[in-house]
Amino acid sequence: MAIIVPSKESLRAAALWIREGGLVAFPTETVYGLGADATNGIAVARIFAAKGRPRFNPLIVHVADVAGLDGLAEVGGLARRLARAFWPGPLTLVLAKSRDCPVSELATAGLPTVAVRIPSHPVAQALIRAAGRPIVAPSANRSGRVSPTTAQHVVDDLGAEVMVLDGGACRHGLESTVLSLAGASPTLLRAGAITAEMIEAVLGVAPKTGEPATPDRPSAPGQLASHYAPNAPVRLMSAGERPKDGEALLAFGPEPPETSGPRFNLSPEGDLEAAAARLYEGLRTLDALKPRGIAVAPVPATGLGAAINDRLKRAAAPRS
Ligand code: TXA
Ligand code: MG
Repeated sequence: MAIIVPSKESLRAAALWIREGGLVAFPTETVYGLGADATNGIAVARIFAAKGRPRFNPLIVHVADVAGLDGLAEVGGLARRLARAFWPGPLTLVLAKSRDCPVSELATAGLPTVAVRIPSHPVAQALIRAAGRPIVAPSANRSGRVSPTTAQHVVDDLGAEVMVLDGGACRHGLESTVLSLAGASPTLLRAGAITAEMIEAVLGVAPKTGEPATPDRPSAPGQLASHYAPNAPVRLMSAGERPKDGEALLAFGPEPPETSGPRFNLSPEGDLEAAAARLYEGLRTLDALKPRGIAVAPVPATGLGAAINDRLKRAAAPRS
């Protein structure tokens, strides 16, 4: 199985496999997802097993268009405005579940809400349409590790038994922005390519920022302190600092800190979009060299930099 070039035939086979309860990894504009039929509890359980993912952490349901949310989630006025502005694209909305929502309770971790997203990647769109089902898809990596942005990353992480549709490198390279509309006011649960500023521009109010959860208080699932972590310890440097002996350098911008060790520059031009797209590639590339640690040069926290710094902070967090 393993890596498959998307074609009419292979997409049809992948969609059939999903309908039969199998798992298919596929590209989206953010990261690669590990997909299953959202309405099939056994298939959803296979995702948790393949990823080693804690059961309390719910999954995102992917549909092809807003009509795909009928009977699944309550799409109110705010959601419609955001949908018009950002879908298809890298935004996930947490909405109240519809009555008789067919999504498996395991996928929503028993919550009264459901996270939904309409991906723009043509392969993701084609797969969802061919399957004719909503598809749950977490990032296609072992739980807690760095998300995959190429088909090869998926195989490196999950093994060659998994079917992966190859769509090349992901455009954004960071997981979607997660915004909850299920509470009293819009709340940002995960930073991503759709920034708080972009959301404010559409809604007229700035979203609140969600409370990060801790392992003993996982009420804001997916906000676990340690996440997106390579094997090597990650250390965030302050401006002017240099890597220590044995550390690999993850750099950003035209004047990276001097080092004699291995390095990966996220964007020599200092471009945040390029840096986001290359972040996980950089962490994986340096990690493969088995350094004593990965030292990270400062990345500005403006715009997309907020999402990049969020991932770096979690990669550097103490691990349990
Ligand atoms: O870009 C993405 O979102 C990728 C691609 C494949 O679409 N998927 C992804 O899924 O990143 P995952 O499972 O790695 O992250 C899902 C996030 C988690 O932080 C989870 O806690 C949150 O969405 N989430 C899902 N359902 C939720 C709910 N009902 N309430 C609050 N957060 C929820
Ligand atoms: Mg993930």
